[in-house]
Amino acid sequence: MIEIKNLSKTYVMGATTVNALDGIDLTIPTGEYVAIVGPSGSGKSTLMNVLGALDTPTTGEYFLNGEDVSKMSEKQLAGVRNRNIGFVFQRYNLMGRISAQRNVELPARYSGVGAAERLKRAQTALESVGLADKINNKPTELSGGQQQRVAIARALVNQPTILMADEPTGALDSKTGIEILDLFERLHKERNMTLIVVTHDQDIAARAGRIIRIRDGKIASDTKTDPAQP
Ligand SMILES: Nc1ncnc2c1ncn2[C@@H]1O[C@H](COP(=O)(O)OP(=O)(O)OP(=O)(O)O)[C@@H](O)[C@H]1O
Ligand SMILES: [Mg+2]
Repeated sequence: MIEIKNLSKTYVMGATTVNALDGIDLTIPTGEYVAIVGPSGSGKSTLMNVLGALDTPTTGEYFLNGEDVSKMSEKQLAGVRNRNIGFVFQRYNLMGRISAQRNVELPARYSGVGAAERLKRAQTALESVGLADKINNKPTELSGGQQQRVAIARALVNQPTILMADEPTGALDSKTGIEILDLFERLHKERNMTLIVVTHDQDIAARAGRIIRIRDGKIASDTKTDPAQP
């Protein structure tokens, strides 16, 4: 459960101040499928970074599963992320020189999971995204869609309750993009994971159960939709 109250994020750059987020109130129950849309520069990624405990707000409150995240130290935030959240980015953000398996293991490594258990988890995660046969391949030996699936496996390895994706299909062709969304939706359903997707694409947003539109750092609209049944 995500609960945000009157949250703001301000960037000061010399003489100019940017209110990237400006008085956001938001509750996202566990298991919801949410799309965040809005024009470039409206604050989507900033909101995602705060929701994902990658960054703290300037003012306001953020409770994640009852824990007050808004005033945590960097170290505490890292713990919250490791326990609760899996991230997927537009550019995959994989390490180019190490195998899919070792990429997927990384978050488990950061949480102090031992080598044998890490390998087991990486195998299971790569299997669940349909890449059991690519476990030893490096990202450079994989297609864009396969790299994004490795990134999704990596996001799953600590069994998070929340999966967050910022433009996860932005670097993919439309057919591969749809496959990636199908995969997200399967995982969301099977595991009752909260799924939060930032997107420019109206068709992608329309698949979510709820669409939150951001404009100038504020929530311009927040609409429940008929859950897409692909
Ligand atoms: N680290 C930063 N330092 C200063 N300003 C920033 C920083 N990050 C974001 N901003 C500013 O905050 C505002 C919101 O940026 P954000 O990246 O959240 O937009 P966005 O909605 O994700 O845009 P896009 O669709 O282009 O990815 C913008 O005006 C941006 O320039
Ligand atoms: Mg962005």
